[in-house]
Amino acid sequence: MDSHQEIRSRPGNSGPRVAIVGAGVCGLAIGWRLAQAGARVEVFERGQAGHGATWASAGMLAAAAEAEPGEERLLEITRWSQGLWPDFARELEAASGRSVGYRDEGTLVVAPTRDDAARLRATYDYQNGLGLELDWLSPAEARRREPFLGPNLAAAVFSAADHQVDNRRLAEALRAAFLTAGGGLHEETEVTAIETAAGRATGLEVGNRRVAADAVVLAAGAWSAELPGLPEAARPPVRPVKGQALALAMDPEAPLLTHVLWAPGIYMVPRSEGSLIVGATVEEKGFDEKLTAGGIFALLEAAWRAVPAIEELAIDDMWVGFRPTSRDDAPILGPTPVEGLLLATGHHRNGILLAPATAHSLTRFILSGDLPAPARPFTLARFADTPALSAPFAGHAIGGR
Ligand code: FAD
Ligand code: GLY
Repeated sequence: MDSHQEIRSRPGNSGPRVAIVGAGVCGLAIGWRLAQAGARVEVFERGQAGHGATWASAGMLAAAAEAEPGEERLLEITRWSQGLWPDFARELEAASGRSVGYRDEGTLVVAPTRDDAARLRATYDYQNGLGLELDWLSPAEARRREPFLGPNLAAAVFSAADHQVDNRRLAEALRAAFLTAGGGLHEETEVTAIETAAGRATGLEVGNRRVAADAVVLAAGAWSAELPGLPEAARPPVRPVKGQALALAMDPEAPLLTHVLWAPGIYMVPRSEGSLIVGATVEEKGFDEKLTAGGIFALLEAAWRAVPAIEELAIDDMWVGFRPTSRDDAPILGPTPVEGLLLATGHHRNGILLAPATAHSLTRFILSGDLPAPARPFTLARFADTPALSAPFAGHAIGGR
């Protein structure tokens, strides 16, 4: 991707003017869908498009394997988005002329010891109870799928529905599709304030420039709570949750793994061009960008226990990313008490998985004033302790002609 890009939206589009803060997977996917629908969309990104948490991600589309007790409501939207993914990927590839590296071999969760197997069984029973389709595997069945698994293996679970996408290719494809659809992209361009007047959003301040808009979408990832000018009533409770990860280099002709693999303390994601992503730490360290010996050691040790043959692989890359995490670890989507100011943030560990649902939900709300049912529990209103905030979302189309 080129940096220092300033590409203005195509004059042919005549729908509402929408200004989006942040060109991560959320901002780009929403921008693409809105521009396709004829809106005049400008996306502002202070760095390079797609180089925030979206770049740091592992690209797992893991609605089933990551389902945890207490997240039943989240499961409705994660499964919806997972179901949207195959068509979303096909359409995006056609629109951008680029592959997004979608792979559907499925996900394997392994338990090295009998204690691990007992924990895995409890999770499996819980997930089965939710109607998720998972298969319990013997060690021999697991090894048939992944011959390089380590010697300690008590049991495994296979999830056929949990696929993966190459998140970096995804970002590049979204950027290209957004531009092709007529969107305007402003990279290396920091939004310095959100502008409001008489209780509604009127646009953005970008340095000494004012950008007028009918709707403003705040999709600034882990930085979403920090935007100057953001009215307190619309401030999303979002914080950064640090993740360290690394990439090993496999022989693409003879990869050590073909499925996404979860083992105690790690996941491993094999890419078609030979990368093996190993992730990730989950750390409450604010915006601390340090790669640490302890973090990387823990990942490598856990990966080596699961697949000992990784010890021969070269380390290609290591990085830190910041998950945008809300108070209940679920996304914050749609309206705020400030008319015309919308949120698409707080996606925590699921922003790539939730991209199709996020794009569809925000586009529909902006164009028709309606949020799709699976997105309705995830407005800002759920955090409110004031009557103004706890009212259900305000449904009305924005600035359409
Ligand atoms: P970002 O991608 O961070 O984009 C926000 C953008 O806003 C940034 O580019 C930033 O520069 C820009 N911005 C901020 N402030 C301003 C401003 N004032 N002006 C202009 N621009 C601004 N999710 C999955 O679904 N599957 C996974 O396997 C997965 N693995 C992960 C592994 C790691 C290590 C991490 C860190 C995250 C992972 N996630 C995963 C989570 C996922 O990456 C995020 O939820 C998702 O990328 C969030 O996207 P976003 O667009 O909200 O944020
Ligand atoms: N979903 C994987 C992660 O956030 O690390």
